[in-house]
Amino acid sequence: MAKIAMLGAGFIGDFYTFSLHGQRGRDTVQVIYSRDEARGEAFGKKHGIPKWTTSMKAAVNDPDIDVIVIGLPNNLHLEAVKLAAAAKKVVFCTKPLGRNAVEAKKMLDLVEKAGVIHGYLEDLVYTPKTLKALKAVQSGAIGQVIWARSRETHPGPHSDWFWTKEISGGGVLLDMGCHCIEISRSYIGKDIRPVEVMCWTDTLVKPIEAEDNALGWVRYENGAVGQFEVSWSFRGGMDLRDEVMGTEGTIWVNNFLRTGFEMFSAGGKKGYVAEKAETETGWIFPVGDEVVELGYTDMFTDMFNAYEKKTEPTETFYDGYIVNEIMDACYRSAGTKKWEPVRLKEWRGREKTSKISGKQDYDKDHLLVKEERMPDGTVKLILKNKKTGKITQTRKK
Ligand SMILES: NC(=O)c1ccc[n+]([C@@H]2O[C@H](COP(=O)([O-])OP(=O)(O)OC[C@H]3O[C@@H](n4cnc5c(N)ncnc54)[C@H](O)[C@@H]3O)[C@@H](O)[C@H]2O)c1
Repeated sequence: MAKIAMLGAGFIGDFYTFSLHGQRGRDTVQVIYSRDEARGEAFGKKHGIPKWTTSMKAAVNDPDIDVIVIGLPNNLHLEAVKLAAAAKKVVFCTKPLGRNAVEAKKMLDLVEKAGVIHGYLEDLVYTPKTLKALKAVQSGAIGQVIWARSRETHPGPHSDWFWTKEISGGGVLLDMGCHCIEISRSYIGKDIRPVEVMCWTDTLVKPIEAEDNALGWVRYENGAVGQFEVSWSFRGGMDLRDEVMGTEGTIWVNNFLRTGFEMFSAGGKKGYVAEKAETETGWIFPVGDEVVELGYTDMFTDMFNAYEKKTEPTETFYDGYIVNEIMDACYRSAGTKKWEPVRLKEWRGREKTSKISGKQDYDKDHLLVKEERMPDGTVKLILKNKKTGKITQTRKK
């Protein structure tokens, strides 16, 4: 049973606390840190949290507290991690870990030097659908992953600081690209080295300095590609979809919008529908249990199991650091309009991963390129001669 200090009484602090206190959870928030006394008190009363403070240091150093959860704007993650490491407390930090890889590496070094358990709160690799899909991939159900595409788009974030580059560190690429990059990386294999990236960013719609739209490709050492598509100007709610293409199969996952729960309301009782929903009347798409479906519940289960068993969770600060390095390379590529290398200062995965290969022998002289049943009922074979390299076609007898 962990006693938690929640740093930040905003949107994610609220979601995290709902998730931790739901389902009669045994890990409870005992202190809430908010700059504003009244907001801290209101948050405390709403969630049954006995203590609130306007001092981040006091919250972290509270002797009753075992675990620090960071839900603060991006510019405060490093400061909070410094305090947690100094106090030698277990620390779980929201995404993105840093505003850039330099900050993320500092955070990784701090927690490792302090010898404390650390977790990177990347909820979207823990959605129930993603967990099941990842298990299928790991069991070999779709062969080798060639391409993993992840999309997160919505009409833009809910607080001023996200839109202010000096505080947030970047636009939609940093804010939501971090989710998509880690999702694709999880499907492709976190032990496979990300090698280079190509990225496009632009500020198309919003009056801001940072990018509001971004697309990118992360190429891994085995040839697999992780593709991300993120936007702060998408209309219609929050779209979270992933597609995985393997040598032996395919997975399509829709995590949030239009997943089978559809409701029509002429407007009798308006109110919250789901995160970033744009309409409260007409056809609406509520979400059964939002904290579960967004992955928070399974994420905290993994984090607090690691805390209890003194092991590592699936997502650590090291993963957060890798994601930050990939995003830094993306920003470089968006500037140069060229493939840019991912410059990892530390790599703990496999060295020299061999290329993906689906090569299939047909007989001793031929490789099979393709087999297909045609409309006339016959089966056509495309074969490659192993010696000459010539490609021919024949009918299966
Ligand atoms: N799916 C996710 O994992 C997810 C979703 C949303 C946000 N986040 C992350 O959570 C973090 C917080 O985002 P949010 O959505 O809760 O933002 P928010 O604006 O809703 O809340 C941030 C809180 O920090 C407070 N704050 C702002 N400036 C401060 C300062 N200088 N000192 C102390 N407190 C300050 C705000 O008053 C607010 O209570 C960000 O890093 C964001 O990327 C993660």
